[in-house]
Amino acid sequence: MSRLSVQLPGLLLKNPIMPASGCFGFGEEFADKYDLSILGALVDKSTTLEPRVGNPSPRYFHSGERILNSVGLKNPGVEAVLAEKLPYLAQFDVPIIQSVAGSTVEDYEAAVAALSKAENVKAIELNISCPNVKQGGLQFGTDPEIAADLTRRCKAVTDLPLYVKLTPNVTDIVAVAKAVEAAGADALVLINTITGQTFDLETRKPVLGGVTGGLSGASVKFVALRMVRQVASAVEIPVIGVGGIETVDDVLEMMIAGATAVQIGSANYANPMVCKEVIEALPVRMDELNMISIEDLIAEMKAEIR
Ligand code: DOR
Repeated sequence: MSRLSVQLPGLLLKNPIMPASGCFGFGEEFADKYDLSILGALVDKSTTLEPRVGNPSPRYFHSGERILNSVGLKNPGVEAVLAEKLPYLAQFDVPIIQSVAGSTVEDYEAAVAALSKAENVKAIELNISCPNVKQGGLQFGTDPEIAADLTRRCKAVTDLPLYVKLTPNVTDIVAVAKAVEAAGADALVLINTITGQTFDLETRKPVLGGVTGGLSGASVKFVALRMVRQVASAVEIPVIGVGGIETVDDVLEMMIAGATAVQIGSANYANPMVCKEVIEALPVRMDELNMISIEDLIAEMKAEIR
């Protein structure tokens, strides 16, 4: 183990930093800017069994540090991801965590089974928390029993570790986390975006084509920290923290909350170099804070929280 490395179920990462699903596509645009092999892992865009065109435009609204998206799981589908996207990513020395979404249980099962066969896919991230689709998404992520059943069924069709991505759009995220853990999830990822909406003053209509959207960016950081701490205190499996992370200090704060690894999402839009910059800043900031290793920090926080 090096100073920055972390162990996730089935996966040893060189460092705890990975881009969040959806904010990095399939890596192409970022590979022009830096070597993706420096990343701890890469989480690609949520993929569904069949291609999806997504919601009508506009799909994004940016206002300072706030971003609302109503993408609606636009993606090229399992076949194209297996034939083009994953082979492209295989040139990098980085484990792929394949994000999977679906409209029905059967869709999820088929997509998980098919994508698990790709050689560079080392874990599946089960997205049960997209707020922008009518079928699927939150319908699987808000009810503990439904979330557990889907987890169990997807676990049965893959040999890979299954990380389940949770929604903050619930009153009791711990109930969902515990149900999903009991159903066999190997790790939890939180939080997905918070449901929101914005209106245009001239047209007096919702701005986004999808009408409502998911809020992300720095403004969700405190919600994410609170939920990561709550969930990490209640489960045994690792928690991967995501929500509003922009700087190395945000990363360390998320780990203090109880995360074992961290995903950087919306910050990639404003600064495509953010993951690289944070990885480089990590050992410097750890020196300043007298942190010996990331593993030590995780162990210290686990002992404090549990
Ligand atoms: O905010 C989100 N937008 N979360 C997701 O899980 C998917 C994405 C989309 O495609 O709408």
